Amino acid sequence: MGTVLHDLLTGMQSALAPAGPNAAAIASLTWIMFVGGGLIFVFVMSFLAWALWSERRGWFAGRGIVIAGGIVFPLVTLSALLVFGLLLARDIVARPSDGALTIAVTGEQFWWRVRYVGNDGRDVDTANEIHVPVGEPVKLVLTTADVIHSLWIPTLAGKLDMIPGETNTLVFQADRPGVYRGQCTEYCGAAHALMAFDVVAHPADAFAAWLEGQARPAADPGIPFISRGRELFLAAGCGACHAVRGTPADGRLGPDLTHIGSRRTIAAGSFPNNKGTLAGWIASSQHLKPNNRMPDFNVFAGEELRAIAAYLESLK
Ligand code: CUA
Repeated sequence: MGTVLHDLLTGMQSALAPAGPNAAAIASLTWIMFVGGGLIFVFVMSFLAWALWSERRGWFAGRGIVIAGGIVFPLVTLSALLVFGLLLARDIVARPSDGALTIAVTGEQFWWRVRYVGNDGRDVDTANEIHVPVGEPVKLVLTTADVIHSLWIPTLAGKLDMIPGETNTLVFQADRPGVYRGQCTEYCGAAHALMAFDVVAHPADAFAAWLEGQARPAADPGIPFISRGRELFLAAGCGACHAVRGTPADGRLGPDLTHIGSRRTIAAGSFPNNKGTLAGWIASSQHLKPNNRMPDFNVFAGEELRAIAAYLESLK
């Protein structure tokens, strides 16, 4: 119970642990409603008890009490809450985004395509991880490649749907460095619950360094075992769906793997990223995440599988 409460108030995916102005505004509205609703509940229950045990029950059923408690009070409190909520929503939506870093995020069954839109016409593709600089507004341009998904980073902003044929814009800001977790919040198929992602907020210079690293093509493997993994990766046709920039692999159906070794997780937040999970994923992805678009590649011998996993892990 203690840890549940602790996670609720401090967790990396808790709307009650805001790390930016949008989420802070939403959290304050939540607390106002929670505390206000609690006080009103206590007041009404006390009034009821008073009425039940009072000698003068008739007075409690009088017209004045009904009008005051049943019409005037809810009208005033709910109207005030409505105005407060609308003003708050206006502030959130109106957050300035001119010149903000723009990141296109596309929902896919069941992962997130993430593209840094370069001002120089050079876009940088990654997946399942959104890196942002701290202390400045970031603009996410949201759409979907298939069905409706919904992007929610509870510590940073409210949720916003990704709708076929539509583009939605979410502007938010992270106030302090850290890793925040997001999750798809619209049922989108069998693996909906396994469609998560990380938001990593860095100081500005660290973010610039990260983006520069992501923009580079994949490094050539220097070790024979890893070169063998690269050969197997290319020979098995992985490049039909995945791109590794700097190699012939240029598929666009699945996540860009150019720097997959730098990511914290694989399969959209489903597993930690290491050689073991990578090998397991290649051999048995349908078992690990049913109905995802990648078939099981259970044709490799153990050592081949280890070589491919080592190659992917080397793509930092
Ligand atoms: Cu994507 Cu639920």
